[in-house]
Amino acid sequence: MTKPVILTGLRANNNLTIGNYFGGMLPLIDMAQSKASEYQINMFIPDLHSFTTPIDHTSLYDQIFHTAKVFAAAGLPLDDERINMYRQSYIPAHSELTWILDCFTGFGEMSRMTQFKDKSGNIGTDRTTVGLFNYPVLMAADILLYGAKYIPVGDDQTQHLEFTRDIAERLNTRFGELFVIPESVKKQHEFFGKDQGLRIMDLADPTKKMSKSDNSGKGVIYLSDAPEVAAKKIMSATTDDKALVKFNPTSQPGISNLIEILALLKGEPVSVTAGRYEGETKYGVFKQAVAHEVQAFLTDFQSKLSAVSDDDVASALERSEATMATQASLRLLAVQKAVGLRPRTQVE
Ligand code: TRP
Repeated sequence: MTKPVILTGLRANNNLTIGNYFGGMLPLIDMAQSKASEYQINMFIPDLHSFTTPIDHTSLYDQIFHTAKVFAAAGLPLDDERINMYRQSYIPAHSELTWILDCFTGFGEMSRMTQFKDKSGNIGTDRTTVGLFNYPVLMAADILLYGAKYIPVGDDQTQHLEFTRDIAERLNTRFGELFVIPESVKKQHEFFGKDQGLRIMDLADPTKKMSKSDNSGKGVIYLSDAPEVAAKKIMSATTDDKALVKFNPTSQPGISNLIEILALLKGEPVSVTAGRYEGETKYGVFKQAVAHEVQAFLTDFQSKLSAVSDDDVASALERSEATMATQASLRLLAVQKAVGLRPRTQVE
C-alpha cells in the first residue's frame, strides 16, 4: 500500500541564479511530477541545516518562505497531495532522531567528511560549530525518518548518502529492521539518470561555473535581477576574437555558454540553436538575441512569482507538515522503543 519514497532537500536561497533554476530546480520539479503516481515525493527545505555556517538570522524565515514560493512559481504544483513540500524544523522528529543517531556515530567518522573539512577550513576553527560537524547526521535523519530509498544527490553529497546507509545498517544490525536502507550512489544515478552535466558558466569568466558566490555579480544572472539589467550583463559577456558563432566549449567558452543559455530558454537542443546562427560573424547580433530572450524569461518568471499567493504556500506547507509529522513520529517511536526510551509495548 505504501509507495516507495523519493526525497530531496532544497536549500533555502534568496539569490538563485538561472544556473540553479535550469540545472537544479526545473529537473527536480519535472522528476517530482513524472514520478508522483508511483512514488511518494518528499521535497523539503532543510532549514535547520541553514545555519551550520554563520548567516544573517534576521532574514532566515523570509528566505525559507521565499524559496517555497520560487518553487511554486517554477511550476511545482501546490495542490498535488502526492507531492509533499515541508520545512524540516516544523517536524521535531528530525532533531530528535538526530540526537539518537549521534550517539551511534563515530567522532572519527564525522571528522573524515570532506565537506566538513572544506567548510571548516574556509571559516576557521574559531567559527566552526558542532552543528557543521553534525550536519551529515541530521541529513541521515531527514532521509531515514521517511524510509526514503531514492535521493537525488550531487557529487558533494555522496559521502553523506554513504554515511546514511552505514548508520542505518549499523542500527538495523543491532536493533532489528528499523530503517529502510537508501539505494547506493550507483543505483541513484541509474534511477535518476546521471545528470546531463548541465553547467551554465559565469558570463565574465566562462571557464568557471556561474555561482551565487561570485562577488561582483557581473557574470551571474539572478532570478531576482531586473530584466534589463540581466540583458546588459549578457551584452557585456566575455567572448573571444574568433568572430564566429560556434558551439565549442573548449576553444570558445564564452560564445558556447551563450548558445547553451539560449537553447535552455528556448527549450531546444544546443545543436538546433547553434545551427540557427551558423556562419554568424557579428557577436553583437547574436548577443542581442540572447539578451532579448533572457529579459523575456525574467519578466515572465517574476510576474509568475508575484502571482504566487502567500496563503496558498503557507497552507500547502502546513498540510504537508501535518502528514509528514505523522509519518516521522511513527518511525521515531520505533527507534525510541528499540533503544529503550519507550516501553516496547507502547502502541501507535
Ligand atoms: N545537504 C543537502 C545539500 O546541501 C541538503 C539536504 C539536507 C538534503 N538534508 C537532505 C538532501 C536530505 C537530500 C536528503 O544540498
